[in-house]
Amino acid sequence: MRAISFDTYGGTDVLRLTDDRPVPGIAPDEVLVRVRLAAVNPFDLKLRSGSMQKVIHPTFPLVPGSEMAGTVEQLGAEVSGIEVGDEVFGWATSGSYAEFAAARVVAKKPHALHWEAAASLPVAADAATRGLGLLHLVPHETLLIHGGAGVVGSLAVQLAVRADVTVIATCSSRDVDALRHLGAHPVLYGEGVFERVRELAPDGVDAVLDAAGAGVLPGSIELVGGTDRVVTLADPAAYALGVTFSSGSAKDQSAAVLDEVAALVVAGALVLPVARHFALADAAEAQDAVAAGGRRGKVLLDL
Ligand SMILES: NC(=O)c1ccc[n+]([C@@H]2O[C@H](COP(=O)([O-])OP(=O)(O)OC[C@H]3O[C@@H](n4cnc5c(N)ncnc54)[C@H](OP(=O)(O)O)[C@@H]3O)[C@@H](O)[C@H]2O)c1
Repeated sequence: MRAISFDTYGGTDVLRLTDDRPVPGIAPDEVLVRVRLAAVNPFDLKLRSGSMQKVIHPTFPLVPGSEMAGTVEQLGAEVSGIEVGDEVFGWATSGSYAEFAAARVVAKKPHALHWEAAASLPVAADAATRGLGLLHLVPHETLLIHGGAGVVGSLAVQLAVRADVTVIATCSSRDVDALRHLGAHPVLYGEGVFERVRELAPDGVDAVLDAAGAGVLPGSIELVGGTDRVVTLADPAAYALGVTFSSGSAKDQSAAVLDEVAALVVAGALVLPVARHFALADAAEAQDAVAAGGRRGKVLLDL
C-alpha cells in the first residue's frame, strides 16, 4: 500500500512516500480501515523529531498518524456492531498516513457528519473532554484555557461554555473574534498574559486547562493558588511542578465520546474550524504547516 514512513528521527525530510508498505494485519478486536482522510497532529511531529524517544520506543520504519476517517474493509473475529463498508472515524493503531490502517476504537460516522470533521475529531475530542473532566468544573466557575483557538482548545472552549462555565481563553490577535464567537472571553497570549487575565477576572480564576504547552504552568499555578485545578495536555514541565499532565492513552479512547461529540457537531452545537488539506505525498509540508502554527483547524492528508 501507499504510505508515509520514516526510519530515523529528524526533520520533515525523513518522511518518505512509499508504495510497498504491507497492509497492516489486524488483531481479533480490530478493524481494517481504508483511510480517506488522516489528520496530522502536533504529537506526530514530536514523535518524528525524536523528542519523545525517552518515553516511546517505536520500531522503524514507522508510519506516523494516530487518527483517521474511512471505510471498514475487514473485521477482526471479535468485532461486533460494525460491518464491512461502514464509514467510521477513530484511532489508528498502525499509523494513519497510509491507504489502510488497523483500528481498535472507531465510531460510525453519522451520514450528516462531514468527512473532514470526522477525521478531525478523535484526538481533540478525547483530549478536550478528558482535560475538562479532570478539572471537575461546576456551572458558573471561571476557567482559563491556554491555546483556546487551537483544535483541542476550541473544542474545550465550546464544551465548557455548554456546561455553563465562564471561559477565558488565550489566543493571538488573529483569533480574538473567533473565540468571542465561541462564547469565550479572549485574552492575547504572550508577555503579560496573566495580568490581562486578572483584569478580566478580578474575582479570580477557578481552574486552568493548558492546551498550548507554551510555558504557562508557573503563572497558572500562581493564578489559581495551587496545582490541584491546573491540568495540562501539552507541557511536560508539569511533572516537575506537581501539575497533572494528561497525556492520554489507548485506555482513554472511547467510541461513546466520539458519538456524543459527533452528534453535537451534526446538530450545529459544536463548530470545528475549517481544515487545510494536503496530498499524502506532501506529508512533510503538512507537518511543517502544523509546526508553523498561526492556522486554525486541523491539517488533513487526503488519501
Ligand atoms: N494530551 C493529549 O491527549 C493531547 C491531545 C492532542 C493534542 N495535545 C497537545 O495539545 C497541544 C495543542 O494541540 P492542537 O492539536 O490543538 O494544536 P494547534 O491546533 O496547533 O493549537 C495550538 C494553539 O496554541 C496556540 N499558542 C501558541 N503559542 C501560545 C502561547 N504562548 N500561549 C497560548 N497559546 C499559544 C496556537 O496559536 P497560534 O496559531 O497563534 O500559534 C494554537 O492556537 C499540542 O501540544 C498537542 O501536542 C495533547
